Amino acid sequence: MRVVVRIGGSVVASPPNPEIMSKYASLLKELKEQGHELVVVVGGGSVARDFITVARDMGLSEFDQDEVAIRVSRLFAQLLAMKLGDLGPGSVPTSVDEAVQELKRGKIVVMGGIKPGMTTDTVAAMVAERVEAELLVKATDQNGIYTKDPRRYADAEKIGILSFDDLVQLFEENKHRAGIHQVVDPEAVRILQKERTKTVVVNGFKPENILLAVKGEKVGTLIE
Ligand code: UTP
Repeated sequence: MRVVVRIGGSVVASPPNPEIMSKYASLLKELKEQGHELVVVVGGGSVARDFITVARDMGLSEFDQDEVAIRVSRLFAQLLAMKLGDLGPGSVPTSVDEAVQELKRGKIVVMGGIKPGMTTDTVAAMVAERVEAELLVKATDQNGIYTKDPRRYADAEKIGILSFDDLVQLFEENKHRAGIHQVVDPEAVRILQKERTKTVVVNGFKPENILLAVKGEKVGTLIE
């Protein structure tokens, strides 16, 4: 199966977590051995945000702030790529085209951001669209998608399965409450909805959740 794995910076980079990064490398090798084709998109988490703050405080433009965050995400991608050795890409792709090339070479593609003004969720959705991925798994710091932001509302309930239409509706209802938008970027959802890419949001602190999602077992939140 062709799978895009989006690893949240909240999981591997907030702060940088060598143990979980190494676990992801082993997991990706295992999935590759099982015959899956993989594109992994990693975020820069709090390290990227720290650099954005530095850039902003230096008076640099939003474009430049994004550029810096992209470099940070690519650095985390590079660490993972290095740990994959020969199975990883020759270098971290900086565009969707380059990612496609690496995938064609039979590599586990590992990348970060590609251009200012978007999130790594959107990068993952764009790649999924381009390679016609059957599944996108987002590994994040929550157990899935909730009816409300679980960090702020005690009565927030985890949703097991929902349609893209339901998700868009949820975004609408939560417009004025931060949180939901951070689980999956609405722009990414727009692309995934258009392509009807099956998407699963799981707790990335347990990398084995990715295996479960790929096997089609019930884990996190399924959007289809
Ligand atoms: P994300 O917010 O997508 O990464 O990108 P993350 O750290 O994995 O987030 P979680 O863990 O899902 O919460 C961080 C920032 O990098 C810039 C944007 O400023 C974005 O908010 N970025 C990233 C780009 O400008 N372009 C890209 O292609 C990717």
